[in-house]
Amino acid sequence: MSNVIVHPDAASAAAAVAASVAQVIRDARRQDRKAVLGLATGLTPLPFYRELVRLHREQGLSFADVITFNLDEYEGLAGSHPQSYRRYMDEHLFSQVDIPASATHVPDGTAADPEQACRDIEDAIRRAGGVDLQILGIGRTGHIGFNEPPSLRESRTRRVVLDETTRRDNSVFFGNIESVPRAALTMGIATILDARRIELLAFGRGKAEIVRRARQEKPGPDCPATWLQDHGACTFHLDPESASGSAI
Ligand code: F6R
Repeated sequence: MSNVIVHPDAASAAAAVAASVAQVIRDARRQDRKAVLGLATGLTPLPFYRELVRLHREQGLSFADVITFNLDEYEGLAGSHPQSYRRYMDEHLFSQVDIPASATHVPDGTAADPEQACRDIEDAIRRAGGVDLQILGIGRTGHIGFNEPPSLRESRTRRVVLDETTRRDNSVFFGNIESVPRAALTMGIATILDARRIELLAFGRGKAEIVRRARQEKPGPDCPATWLQDHGACTFHLDPESASGSAI
């Protein structure tokens, strides 16, 4: 069963998770190796990235020895597209800290051979020594990354078709649903569960029901976030609204 912390608000949750990241970076440096972070995009982690940038600027937290892997990318969007997750990461984190561009990995939504691109991501994670800390959000379909229902526990990085609920939710970024891509590349459930630690962020009443399901339903493909119950070091960081769906 995953742990849960209900924070007073989203900013406090973001600060707590950013502090975990800082600790992982410092621990890796002490062990003379690079820290490997798994990163998410979307509305939820924005205060978390703001806090990481603040820690870099005000407390000298260096990302020079950090390797990052992002969970997912829309199919068909080049990194230069304003709604691509590569662009999101460049804007909210990578351009604001001292991480080398070559240490950042976001799936290539325009890869000529998506299957090979997915295999390359799995290989690159393995070569980096695995993910120390994976940051997650959660979609209202129960997706983590873009693992829409049904997603198997054994799934690896692959091309997926996006659920219509997800396309509707993400249309806030695109202006209209027609512009939201129908498919994406995502790390798989097994890829995510391989991370040594997982910290999931979920805020607002709109996430209360899916958080309840993720924590209380029996693990299964119909609510992919339930697979997190199989992980020994996974923490849900909630605000009072997202925690309101269950007696946590
Ligand atoms: C994004 C990702 C998704 C989002 C989820 C929630 O990289 O993997 O699982 O975390 O769709 O999105 P927001 O935070 O916009 O509600």
